[in-house]
Amino acid sequence: SKNYKIAVLPGDGIGPEVMKEAVRVLDVVSKKFGFDVNAEWANVGGAAYDESGSPLPESTLKLGEASDCILFGSVGGPKWEHLPPNLQPERGALLPLRKHFKLFCNLRPARVYKELAGACPLRADIVGDGFNILTVRELTGDVYFGQPKGREGVPGSKEEIGFDTMKYSRYEVERIARFAFDAAMLRNKKVASIDKANVLTTSVLWREVVNEVIKDYPELTLEHLYVDNAAMQLLKRPREFDVLLCPNLFGDILTDECAMLTGSMGLLPSASIAEGSFGLYEPAGGSAPDIAGKGIANPLAQILSVALMLRYTFKEEEAAKAIEAACEKVIAQGYRTGDIYQEGCTKVGTTGMGDAIIKALA
Ligand code: NAD
Ligand code: IPM
Ligand code: MN
Repeated sequence: SKNYKIAVLPGDGIGPEVMKEAVRVLDVVSKKFGFDVNAEWANVGGAAYDESGSPLPESTLKLGEASDCILFGSVGGPKWEHLPPNLQPERGALLPLRKHFKLFCNLRPARVYKELAGACPLRADIVGDGFNILTVRELTGDVYFGQPKGREGVPGSKEEIGFDTMKYSRYEVERIARFAFDAAMLRNKKVASIDKANVLTTSVLWREVVNEVIKDYPELTLEHLYVDNAAMQLLKRPREFDVLLCPNLFGDILTDECAMLTGSMGLLPSASIAEGSFGLYEPAGGSAPDIAGKGIANPLAQILSVALMLRYTFKEEEAAKAIEAACEKVIAQGYRTGDIYQEGCTKVGTTGMGDAIIKALA
């Protein structure tokens, strides 16, 4: 029978709490749909630093390489933010993983469940019958990775500077634009490309390339939006968006906004994929130090990331849909973690939400 090898990297903060639920759900789904999962756990981020002195130990990287994909929790927290950059969970583990596995494309599907329309901070007449926005975020370029980066000058002096380089190659923009356009062809055929072409040279190239690539997709409607305007338009007319094509930094920022539009940071899953079938699947949100260790984090983003993993790496569409349907069902049944709680609903913790989803899958 089919045997899938997964590296499970729970990370820090709420990571291990929500990961536990996600893997329980994966176990149930694998039995139901007839595939075996060989899940091997390893430390990453702050947890790995505390244990071994490195946020990304060689053994963790090797495990990822020996696996079909990585299921990732989240990394970081106040405990590690004063370490030198290369030892920090984010810059020493997550970003290197994205680069190492060439995960150039980050998909963040944000949809409003009908029953959660009230959890969206926008007015009911704006939310209407909901929206469904897929952000396609470039993930291995931009100011995140552009060189040079660094600090210069006498430490503590007024002249001391810190700098990063925003940079995109034609190749990188074309590759992510095609991905977004292909995705839009299977959806509502509308793309908004996000840039800051009134200020940034990187964005001028971005816009130029996007305008070239769109010629191969005559059925699509394309609009260009400056990122500041996009931040505002998303609040004004979320239902009119379909696919958001974003450079790395702007995509990072706008997807937190998209997450909150769906009701909570704890609802947004993500797939970071390479060419081919390898991917890293993780919630869009972070380690949530403010609620970590309390058993109250919303596990839905992590569980929905499992669905994306089954869809994109393993092509188990039925199993992916079953997880998504179960999440929808428990929301319709009124189960709510604290972040999306509304009066009259059944308040559950992280494990309670996992239990409800497993029951819904049966
Ligand atoms: P965050 O996403 O961790 O938290 C922002 C807010 O959303 C908090 O109020 C938090 O409680 C809430 N939230 C997030 N996930 C939730 C969930 N599942 N259920 C309920 N509420 C949830 O962002 P932050 O506070 O800016 O960052 C905390 C740490 O996480 C930082 O170290 C940051 O670098 C890191 N981070 C990691 C990742 C990742 O590993 N992919 C992503 C984002 C941030
Ligand atoms: C995300 C996170 C990361 C990013 C950080 C933790 C490096 O915010 O996945 O959205 O900025 O990409
Ligand atoms: Mn982010």
